[in-house]
Amino acid sequence: MTVARHFLDLGDAGADAIAAMISDALDRKEARRDWPKGKTDADEPLKGRVLALVFEKNSTRTRVSFDVAMRQLGGTVLILEAGSSQLGRGETIADTARVLSRMVDAIMLRTDDHAKIEEMARHASVPVINGLTDRSHPCQIVADLLTIIEHKKPLPGLEVAWFGDGNNVLHSVLEAAGLLKFNVRVATPEGYEPAAEFVEIARSGGASVTLTHNAQQAADGADVLVTDTWISMGQADADDKRKAMAPYQVNGDLMARAKPEAIFLHCLPAHVGEEVSEDVFESSQSVVFDEAENRIHAQKSVLLWSFGLLANG
Ligand code: CP
Ligand code: NVA
Repeated sequence: MTVARHFLDLGDAGADAIAAMISDALDRKEARRDWPKGKTDADEPLKGRVLALVFEKNSTRTRVSFDVAMRQLGGTVLILEAGSSQLGRGETIADTARVLSRMVDAIMLRTDDHAKIEEMARHASVPVINGLTDRSHPCQIVADLLTIIEHKKPLPGLEVAWFGDGNNVLHSVLEAAGLLKFNVRVATPEGYEPAAEFVEIARSGGASVTLTHNAQQAADGADVLVTDTWISMGQADADDKRKAMAPYQVNGDLMARAKPEAIFLHCLPAHVGEEVSEDVFESSQSVVFDEAENRIHAQKSVLLWSFGLLANG
């Protein structure tokens, strides 16, 4: 039996495969420029395949981008929500993995505890893809890297600055930094730093990671400024956290310290007026809707990699 290619974190694919994903995504995006979004790519590489999208948390972009990505690749999807499936009534992840593996060709899971997706992968005989856990969000970062490259910023040596909460999205940014050799300045309040494990992954891959509590210092001369919600799904909405986060808002003053051609990224959904000011969110430096669209193109290459069908991947 061939072992399924799971994509639980960026390191499962590795630097070369991620570079191949970005290159394939750029080619496929260009090849279908101005086509209706529901039209399939000429080669229909996933014709006949079905992907299960399993959600234990809310989603707009991940849900729609995987669905449209599968349609464009010639395949289909079905959606399983925890609340309306037996998962929500306590059926085990192990049994769910074994049942879904008999019925579909791949599984995407969005869940809370990362141990659950590891359990799914252990018991599934088809590829399992991480659509976000409390620990990481690798599919988002493939789209972010694609967006950065499209905006003519080569990754090696790039200075990426993160502001606010040291969360799941930042963890995947750090993992990408180690693999693709860009540098990350992380500005968080005390007590909200990223997990040390991800800082170590980035540094051991050769990336420089600066941890600071000074947002201005992180912004100085940066190429890319990134933030995310202060309160992630499943986290308590605490006043003291919001208060601690306030000095890390990405606003005009912070953008003015970055390189003049710097871009602003946010995985969305955004809370304008909290982690980002309206003038930055709506500015020409903000590429958040390119980033959102790129979820489709990135998801296609993640899917192709998982099926062993990515050129050079
Ligand atoms: N960025 C992102 O993953 O968005 P959704 O939560 O809408 O899927
Ligand atoms: N950090 C956010 C990302 C949402 C896409 C969350 O986990 O809610």
